[in-house]
Amino acid sequence: IIAFFAPKVLAGQRVLVTAGPTYEAIDPVRGITNLSSGKMGFAIARAAREAGAEVTLVAGPVSLPTPRGVTRIDVRSAQNMLEAVVEQAHDATVFIATAAVADWRPAAPSTQKLKKDGSGRAPQLGFTENADILATLAQSPRGKSGALFCVGFAAESHDLVANAQAKRLRKGVPLLVGNIGPATFGRDDNALLLVDAQGTQELPRASKRELARKLIADIARRTRTESQ
Ligand code: CTP
Ligand code: CA
Repeated sequence: IIAFFAPKVLAGQRVLVTAGPTYEAIDPVRGITNLSSGKMGFAIARAAREAGAEVTLVAGPVSLPTPRGVTRIDVRSAQNMLEAVVEQAHDATVFIATAAVADWRPAAPSTQKLKKDGSGRAPQLGFTENADILATLAQSPRGKSGALFCVGFAAESHDLVANAQAKRLRKGVPLLVGNIGPATFGRDDNALLLVDAQGTQELPRASKRELARKLIADIARRTRTESQ
């Protein structure tokens, strides 16, 4: 296990990772979130650190210990996550977006707890689309030039290859990683599909820890060849 990263394949790289869900407030005591556990992103941060990178992990609300040697920034909403990522991205060389960012937030969160008014009618919530953190970075000057190598994740319920390839192109990222079903939320294992301009490659079912190491080794190869 130690030998696996004996040559520190990411030495000198600064890796920024997002992980976990986001939480979008409805009022001071209620909000909307999702079932992301953060396990895959935390495993990736740990593997990147073990491979010699300087690692910053921007985490939504999760209950996981911080991997040794990793700088962790806790955030709550998608807007908080975007701010933290933009602040950290200027000197990063790799950005890995594993977070399950809420696509929408309540448009007008109440500053006071919503109360039943006795009429039996439920409140009507309006929504606003959140900014796309991955696309924002991928389309920034450093993302476009390849100085910041951007990696996306996607959980698709159907047509994984076609949807993942379309998503990769839409986001403008060189590498998109698909979760091969069934739903992997909270599980300790997973199987991944790597989608790039050349096509697809499968990382067969294994622990998230082992997959994280394989993915980091793959990203190290890509950033080495692409920066030469
Ligand atoms: N992502 C992001 N910011 C968002 C939404 C998604 O950074 N506001 C990132 C995720 O972290 C992931 C990738 O984009 O790396 C794909 O997320 P996904 O939810 O699969 O894609 P969407 O573009 O949101 O499309 P949809 O949910 O409609 O399939
Ligand atoms: Ca989404």
